[in-house]
Amino acid sequence: MTATASRLEVAHGADGGFDVTARRADRYRIHLENGLTDRLADHLRELVAALDAHRIVLTMDTVVAAHHLSSVSAVLARVGVPFDVVLVAEGEATKSQSGLQGLWRSLQRVKATRRTLVLGVGGGMVCDLTTAAAATYMRGVPYALVPTTLLAQVDAAIGGKGGINYDGTKNLVGAFQHPAAVFVDPELIRTLPDQHIRNGLAEVVKVALIADPGLFAVLERSVGRGAATWPWDAIIRAAITAKLLLLAPDPFEQADLRRLLNLGHCVGHPYEAAAGFRVLHGEAVAAGLAVATALSLHGGHCTRGDHDRILAVLSGHRLPTTVPAPLRADVWDALEAVRRVRNGHLHLVVPAAPGHCTVVDDVTREAFDRALRHLDRRCRP
Ligand SMILES: NC(=O)c1ccc[n+]([C@@H]2O[C@H](COP(=O)([O-])OP(=O)(O)OC[C@H]3O[C@@H](n4cnc5c(N)ncnc54)[C@H](O)[C@@H]3O)[C@@H](O)[C@H]2O)c1
Repeated sequence: MTATASRLEVAHGADGGFDVTARRADRYRIHLENGLTDRLADHLRELVAALDAHRIVLTMDTVVAAHHLSSVSAVLARVGVPFDVVLVAEGEATKSQSGLQGLWRSLQRVKATRRTLVLGVGGGMVCDLTTAAAATYMRGVPYALVPTTLLAQVDAAIGGKGGINYDGTKNLVGAFQHPAAVFVDPELIRTLPDQHIRNGLAEVVKVALIADPGLFAVLERSVGRGAATWPWDAIIRAAITAKLLLLAPDPFEQADLRRLLNLGHCVGHPYEAAAGFRVLHGEAVAAGLAVATALSLHGGHCTRGDHDRILAVLSGHRLPTTVPAPLRADVWDALEAVRRVRNGHLHLVVPAAPGHCTVVDDVTREAFDRALRHLDRRCRP
């Protein structure tokens, strides 16, 4: 349920100016339940009543639609307000200026207003695009998300961040706008291809390393066992808990350049870019986690035993544990560029032990190369 308490406080300055404080508190529920989709009509009916919404616009990509459009349409038919369906092309290319404009156009075509609930059902791409459109159309309309990939359930749908890629840069344009509700149904990922399960799993490994040794132990125990037997409900709940905990001190990313959530991303992001985005984000993050672990071992920040456990979880779940040799120079150049922007500080997050990370600044090219040689030796069959 959502409740927005907003307020403007104005103080009159002695110099004739005004000191304005605008406050806004968004309150909403992240529902998490196996089989939630069956009860979604009831939840949406309550949400629509609370928002006084007169219409729902469903956004979905074409692949998700092939699996879930008929069941979601049946749910919407039971909510009691009219609904429209806006299908967008599958793939990251839709998270673009033209994709966002297309969504604005569709919202305008169906005469969406601030009393329309936009419902994004899909992976991180649909979540980010729907959030960006809802944040900007008519300066903000209410929206809710039903994430359908593991990555979206544990990460993209959590935190109210929306955006598009622009001019070759990921997430360059976007906004923070929290949803009216998020509905996480772990059963929805049953139709997800294995590669996308592993893509999301990399982010789960990341938050486990930062904040939850118990979750890390679950991931260790899951190695070698079929994904259908994993305790998905508990894994997703723990990962969301950890992400919310880590977001809490700085939810709008204004202050903390040393964010622990960047674990694996310092190297993962430039690797993804150097690969021309032909690797999945989670695969690049996994490689970044492995590099950070090797650097941690060499820098004396983690024990050999913990280093072995972390690499065993990554490789056990068939996640990459190194950056391909031809891309390493580009990745290093990107790290150096970040260091320059931050006046000599890289803020590379490295794991100290499962559930505990530390930040280092003293990574040299030599240390980076040594870490990769070390990982090459381990990767060799
Ligand atoms: N906003 C954030 O905080 C945040 C965090 C992490 C990632 N992201 C963004 O998320 C995006 C990646 O998300 P993603 O990996 O979910 O990609 P995606 O949304 O493109 O989904 C991956 C593929 O899976 C398909 N799919 C989705 N759900 C399915 C299902 N249940 N069954 C079968 N197929 C299904 C999609 O159609 C697509 O082909 C990136 O754009 C990334 O920048 C955002």
